[in-house]
Amino acid sequence: MAETRNPLEATGRTLGWGIVATGAIARKVTPDIAALEDARLVGVSSRSQASADEFATDFGVERAYADDDARTGYEKLVADPDVDVVYIATPHGQHHATMLEAIRAGKNIVCEKAFTITADEAREVLEAAREKGVFVMEGLWTRFHPLRTRVSELLEAGEIGMPRWVQADLGFRGPADKSHRLWREDAGGGGLLDMACYVLHWPWLALGRPTGFTAQTIKRGNVDALTQITGTFEKSAAQMTISLVSQGPRQAVISGHDGFITIGSPMHQAQSFTVTDARGSVREESWPLVGRGYSYEMREATRCIQEGALESPIMPWEDTIAQMEMIDEIRRQIGVVYPDHDDVARDLPAKS
Ligand SMILES: NC(=O)c1ccc[n+]([C@@H]2O[C@H](COP(=O)([O-])OP(=O)(O)OC[C@H]3O[C@@H](n4cnc5c(N)ncnc54)[C@H](OP(=O)(O)O)[C@@H]3O)[C@@H](O)[C@H]2O)c1
Repeated sequence: MAETRNPLEATGRTLGWGIVATGAIARKVTPDIAALEDARLVGVSSRSQASADEFATDFGVERAYADDDARTGYEKLVADPDVDVVYIATPHGQHHATMLEAIRAGKNIVCEKAFTITADEAREVLEAAREKGVFVMEGLWTRFHPLRTRVSELLEAGEIGMPRWVQADLGFRGPADKSHRLWREDAGGGGLLDMACYVLHWPWLALGRPTGFTAQTIKRGNVDALTQITGTFEKSAAQMTISLVSQGPRQAVISGHDGFITIGSPMHQAQSFTVTDARGSVREESWPLVGRGYSYEMREATRCIQEGALESPIMPWEDTIAQMEMIDEIRRQIGVVYPDHDDVARDLPAKS
């Protein structure tokens, strides 16, 4: 049966958390970390002292670190002996360097998706973590939600027969500001790195890892704005859409021999789903999220660190690398290049 335990309940010793960056997602996630019974918000780092101070005041963080002429706020945060684990909420383009720095300082890590820009960068980070003996987890929150566990149970129990086809859509109208990270190459902009983890999530759960892809995109500037991806599998298929130019239904549908499961919108943070059988009768299940839905991943990271594990069985390193390899392959096909990174698409002409 899907996990129904309160994710806020302590599972062991209290961990000191350091929050890296003060942007949009850091502001959403931090209250869910603070709500854990065995969490203490030790520090926050920012490029600017004013942002660090404001964030610390807003969320009750003990210490506010910022860049100065000698050191970055981030270097100061990872040097703080009371910080056990850092939550990294910078744009994707910064994740690789930031994680390597944290690992050198011996800190455990939860890093936002996309974990890195390339699979090679992900391998380098995880190898460094293995050598240093620190815990690292990609914060792909959807994986930790009780609804996902419940859907997985139903699929395994044969509720819709053998799954054969998955459709997953995630789209919204991106920011008008052209300097926003989503439109900037240096930040790993475009829809793919931001949302591939979500549209891949449901096909991967229902059908396994795809054996191949075909993908096309329409670009805005040098990054992907509207991408269509077909995933192929031995006996099944998936159609995925990622858009930064249109508001989509943000649904996922898993179709099997005997029925289908419709994951509620938005499918990366769904709180309900329906099961429709071959006669058309529909049953709905509700799986409300605690807080904003981030405490589940933070509970799992906390439990793993308390137990001395280096990775989580729910989001193992192997899956993070596999996901980055899939993104590399899709990006190679759509010809999106991030010049500051070791790039998979560099040698190919852009397709659009
Ligand atoms: N799990 C989720 O639900 C979810 C949702 C949205 C985003 N995300 C992920 O979270 C990460 C951050 O996204 P966001 O929407 O929070 O972005 P954002 O609002 O732009 O915030 C990113 C923050 O990173 C810091 N930063 C450090 N170096 C930077 C640089 N070179 N350029 C810009 N900012 C820099 C800045 O904080 P300081 O000014 O304090 O240094 C900035 O506010 C991305 O990887 C994204 O995919 C996850």
